[in-house]
Amino acid sequence: MKLYKVLPDLSRKNHMAIWQKALRQQWSAEDLDWSRPQRITSPRLKDQMARVLTPVLMGEQAALYSVSGLIPILGLNGEVESQFYLTTWAVDEARHTELFARYYGRLEREPLSIRRFRSGYLFQSQIVSTEPAEWLAGVLVSEVLAKLLLEDFKNLDLDPLLSDICDGILRDEARHLGFNQIYMEDRFKDLHLQGQSHVDAAAGHLRDRVQRVLDCVPPMFDEVNEELAAIGIDRHRIYSELEAGANRRLDRSIERGRRAAKGLQALSSADDAITEQG
Ligand SMILES: [Fe+2]
Ligand SMILES: [Fe+2]
Repeated sequence: MKLYKVLPDLSRKNHMAIWQKALRQQWSAEDLDWSRPQRITSPRLKDQMARVLTPVLMGEQAALYSVSGLIPILGLNGEVESQFYLTTWAVDEARHTELFARYYGRLEREPLSIRRFRSGYLFQSQIVSTEPAEWLAGVLVSEVLAKLLLEDFKNLDLDPLLSDICDGILRDEARHLGFNQIYMEDRFKDLHLQGQSHVDAAAGHLRDRVQRVLDCVPPMFDEVNEELAAIGIDRHRIYSELEAGANRRLDRSIERGRRAAKGLQALSSADDAITEQG
């Protein structure tokens, strides 16, 4: 263990504000009413749900692993405010993993095995990195994808408990995307102050990374193609919104960092970063 400073600065205000929000907005799977009758009763629909929820559960578990792994790295970098925030992010992903694991019990089904869902495993593997900005660029794709799928599940209103699960997770995901924006803007502000060549190198690298992770999405959809269509989820709309949304968010962080470095605009507040859509 390395501790560089006994007294941390805690001077990054927006990081501290989103950490405080995350602390106050915690909730538990036990807050939901699991005794409500299951509306998904047809064996065929249960089988379809078990398949399409596989990438969702896998994503929650992979997020728990990777977020937990980044906590000590941020400490080593002396990024204590971000380290604080990630402790809540890990709790969020643990809660999401628990929710979907328990939901499989309610469905009386099991997800696809890793052997039968290699594309999902490859997608998650592409996101892994021990460099925080690199990791956050990949995470942008998985979190926007989770957001789009959960919004669809909620709108389809398949089972009231599933809608409540999606509703709670969507609030958490908005916060994760908000932190992603706060961290990236701040990183790009620093890079802009170091010079345009630093910005160009980092931006190019992170855009490539987003694209590599995006490339792993269609093979995953292929695996559950029929089930997505049967349930009423349009994979092509999801993919185009995902591609546009992930790139737009990264570009926005780069631009906001530039404007902040030039003194043209303040960095986004926690409230703005959480509520900003698209
Ligand atoms: Fe999650
Ligand atoms: Fe998340």
